[in-house]
Amino acid sequence: MTLKESLADLLSQKEPVIRAFYDRFLADVPEAVVLFEGVDLKRQALMLTMALIVVEAHSRGDFPSIRHYLHVLGDRHREWGIPRELFPRFRKCLIATLSHWHGADWSEDLEDAWAAAMDCAIQTMLEGYEGDFPF
Ligand code: HEM
Repeated sequence: MTLKESLADLLSQKEPVIRAFYDRFLADVPEAVVLFEGVDLKRQALMLTMALIVVEAHSRGDFPSIRHYLHVLGDRHREWGIPRELFPRFRKCLIATLSHWHGADWSEDLEDAWAAAMDCAIQTMLEGYEGDFPF
């Protein structure tokens, strides 16, 4: 299964698969709980699912509008007080969620593809931490 097929599978579910990611992330990274106080996790899961479309596209090419979106998103995460150190743990939990959900369809190649795509998106989001990126 390719990264594109994995994403298509995720998007074919009306209830976002990624909702389970937040349960895993908040259990594994208890210091993140306070950051999500008052946040609607169902809405959040939908937003992150949509952001994964961006993550996959960003891994395929350097599209200026996607780069700008990720800069704005990074800038907002900095404003929300999200420490940079949480990004690798977020990535790890996301990959664990995807691996669990795909089950037998998961492979080392797919894991590498998601890891590389997340690294690329995180790098661009963290550039957003360095400056002011209004919409
Ligand atoms: C590649 C990494 C990440 C992506 C793609 C991502 C994506 C998103 C998106 C799309 C939103 C919704 C933005 C909006 O409502 O306008 C969001 C919000 C949020 N993210 Fe992330 N995120 C990432 C990493 C993180 C990390 C590491 C944390 C650590 C705790 C985090 C915590 C939050 C919180 C707390 C909000 C909600 C803020 C609020 O509504 O008050 N995110 N994220």
